[in-house]
Amino acid sequence: MSESLLIARIGELVTNAAETDGDGRGPGPFAVINDAALVIEGGRIVWTGPSSRAPAADALLDAAGRAVLPGFADSHALLVFAGERSAEFAAPMAGLPYAAGGIRSTVAATRAATDAELRAGLHRLAGEMLAQGTTTFECKSGYGLTVIDESRSVALAAEITDEVTYLGAHVVPAEFDGDAGAYVDLVCGPMLDACAPHARWVDVFCERGAFSADEARAVLTAGRARGLIPRIHASQLGPGPGVRLAVELGAASADHCTFLTDADVDALAAVAPSRSPLSSSSGTVATLLPGAEFGTRQPYPDARRLLDAGVTVALASDCNPGSSYTSSMPFCVALAVRDMHMTTAEAVWAATAGGAIALRRTDIGHLAPGARADLVMLDAPSHAYLAYRPGVPLIHAVYRAGVGLGVGVRQGQSGR
Ligand code: NIG
Repeated sequence: MSESLLIARIGELVTNAAETDGDGRGPGPFAVINDAALVIEGGRIVWTGPSSRAPAADALLDAAGRAVLPGFADSHALLVFAGERSAEFAAPMAGLPYAAGGIRSTVAATRAATDAELRAGLHRLAGEMLAQGTTTFECKSGYGLTVIDESRSVALAAEITDEVTYLGAHVVPAEFDGDAGAYVDLVCGPMLDACAPHARWVDVFCERGAFSADEARAVLTAGRARGLIPRIHASQLGPGPGVRLAVELGAASADHCTFLTDADVDALAAVAPSRSPLSSSSGTVATLLPGAEFGTRQPYPDARRLLDAGVTVALASDCNPGSSYTSSMPFCVALAVRDMHMTTAEAVWAATAGGAIALRRTDIGHLAPGARADLVMLDAPSHAYLAYRPGVPLIHAVYRAGVGLGVGVRQGQSGR
């Protein structure tokens, strides 16, 4: 029998689990318990409720009034790459537009890198994420764009996360200039064969300068036939067909959603997954990536328009060396609150439960009994401090599957 841990005197426990009856709580919209406690056993949450009614456990941790929330679920990141593009960041800061073409310079550096170099970069970024409270992250390929370089990218990503995305259709590489069709055939054929065994998801950048709707449909359909679930980069640089394609193909998520038409919003609202992280609903989430708008000086997506229409919204970091070189979900929460007019509750829900739903995961993104014990303890009394104190290192401790990975908290041995 594994040891149980009681975390008591939690100032505010964000559960994303609405109270039902008695101690029963079901996952759902944003919900908190004040003056709370929780019990972890066997890597799972087994009890949540008021501190005054906490059961005995083998070990006790005093949260001393700190807030606890589900670990962040970052559902959009590109972490397997080499090289750096700080000059490209400087350009939009100086008033020049962001262009998808910069991806090719990362492709060149990634192809030239050794496995060990790529693995070191991946682990460095994953470590940054964990230190900032991200307990689950998705990782895309997309900087290899040959059979060998894409397959090693997804294989490296699979060493460190279950949420691996095959993004061979990121851009058309230089050697296929003028023959995008031949590249799409490669992506749908030998490259998919090599990558599918390592991946859960298939993605495509459906945008002017990247892939057309027909090309994107071919890639996602081929991926789906190999058991991969579609997701799509849609309407990042301008209005386009990506969102409606995502809905048509039952993609788990349409990501970016910066330039949406009314028809796009209606389509997303019509297939919005349930806000319960436990429902295995198969709709399409709108995943907003404010780090990309910060990094490219584009307008932020209109989160209020989506939320008010009933769309299910997730927030993710889009960590990548070009448009959004941040690994910080707290930073994205702060941007979403300050610049996208999301409430603090909406932003934290979108960064936790929203990300879980965008990854079609029922075990994370909430802290109802039965959830994986992935949680973040803040050096602050409430979730609102993530936006109220932007840029401040508020993460006091992180637990993944019940294992403490943070600093600053010592476990007492005296059970109650
Ligand atoms: O999600 N939009 C396309 N892909 C990345 C950007 C990649 C890059 O600029 O290197 C994104 O923002």
